[in-house]
Amino acid sequence: MAADSAVNLGVLISGFGSNLQAIIDAIERRELAARIKLVVSNRADAVGLERARRHGIDALVIENRKFPSREAFDREVVTALKARDVELVILAGFMRLLSPVMVQAFPNRIMNIHPALLPSFPGLHVQQAAIDHGVRFSGCTVFFVSQGLDDGPIIIQAAVPVRPDDTEQELSERILAQEHRIYPRAIQLYQEGRLEVRGRKVYIKDDASQPIDQVLINPPLR
Ligand code: GAR
Repeated sequence: MAADSAVNLGVLISGFGSNLQAIIDAIERRELAARIKLVVSNRADAVGLERARRHGIDALVIENRKFPSREAFDREVVTALKARDVELVILAGFMRLLSPVMVQAFPNRIMNIHPALLPSFPGLHVQQAAIDHGVRFSGCTVFFVSQGLDDGPIIIQAAVPVRPDDTEQELSERILAQEHRIYPRAIQLYQEGRLEVRGRKVYIKDDASQPIDQVLINPPLR
């Protein structure tokens, strides 16, 4: 796509939609050159639907339980996205596995966010799993969706310190605050045409500022 034109997004949600809100806010602050053409929720009670409507964004409920198969549901979603000329699909707390119907309709054009440093802790309830394991860092990951679970090429990660006595809620909130920073950034890098996927890796074009000398140590050395 041309680097100077806003990218058309379709955002898929299942719940609270705080990442959707962070993307809306980044667009409104003009930090992100994007248009949200459509929000789709697979649940009618998703709070994120209200967020979309409040900002005048077209929002649809497509309930997966009304479809006979994952593929049939995905076909309906793909049709809705294509009808609005969506280029990049953003999964923002969308709690459904995608079938090949969806992944093949938008190859390397579906992003997801996950509240852990992948490939550690894929799947569900991962903040508690990180606390239980006793890791000193967890974080969040934005990646391109491939067919495997939480397995696609990684675009950007934020490392968040973990305390052994963290509650799930405390760690989740700390991670979520960073999700809201890195998701709009990943989309903006895409919009600028700077993400190049080669095999498992995403290369960021023209990036002179990769922080190879920034090391985080937890607990600190002193
Ligand atoms: C976020 O923490 C996101 O990383 C997670 O769900 C939450 C959605 O919050 N996604 C996954 O766990 C996907 N595997 P939100 O609805 O407030 O954006």
